[in-house]
Amino acid sequence: MILKKIKKVFKKEISYSLKDIYNGHHNITYRGVLCIKCPFDYITYQMIINQVKPDLIIEIGTNEGGSTLYLADLLEINGVGEIHSIDIEDKCPEVVKEHKRINLFFNGWENYDLDLAKGFKTVLVIEDSSHHYKNTLDAINKFAPLVTKDSYLIVEDGILSSMGWSKSFDGGPVRAIEVFIEKNKNFKIDNSWENFFGKDTTFNPKGFLKRI
Ligand SMILES: C[S@@+](CC[C@H](N)C(=O)[O-])C[C@H]1O[C@@H](n2cnc3c(N)ncnc32)[C@H](O)[C@@H]1O
Repeated sequence: MILKKIKKVFKKEISYSLKDIYNGHHNITYRGVLCIKCPFDYITYQMIINQVKPDLIIEIGTNEGGSTLYLADLLEINGVGEIHSIDIEDKCPEVVKEHKRINLFFNGWENYDLDLAKGFKTVLVIEDSSHHYKNTLDAINKFAPLVTKDSYLIVEDGILSSMGWSKSFDGGPVRAIEVFIEKNKNFKIDNSWENFFGKDTTFNPKGFLKRI
């Protein structure tokens, strides 16, 4: 009886559009703080942080800090690590500021002192700032050398190309990734995360770059 019911459910077509998910993701909160992440990527991050167990995450683009808080809590579950989250302005509530695993920087990724990442064994970097081609490429070129073997450089929001906005971002993250990957043979695009729930179920197409 139950099996019959399950089969029926699997046959049912669920219809939702990229636009629906995009609109919804702007309202996602984590512990009450805005966390602008695709729901599929939410799960992916949780699995990656558990797998890699970074002792340092560098997040470029904090906004209100919901993603920072989420990642910091995942580090807390691992029992190891801290996050350096960088923005150009302070929009973070107290709950983000007071987390013992979070360090916030508000003077832009351009001014982040790479020496602050010295001494960490396993470093993961997330680029989630302006999404303009040049800014993305410059940022990933600066931070990629910090990423340790088997860890990730995650480049967010290449989805804007699928939304038809590529021109406004001069090619955006996808173009930046394509240029970067051509020159950096010590990284490969790990497709497994972007196809985890079916083809292209991510807002970060080509964006999970594994350091090999
Ligand atoms: C898409 S939001 C970040 C979203 C956040 N990571 C989340 O998942 O909720 C982009 C942020 O990048 C910041 N930003 C823009 N230029 C930047 C720069 N040069 N350095 C660091 N952050 C920057 C913006 O102020 C904005 O808050």
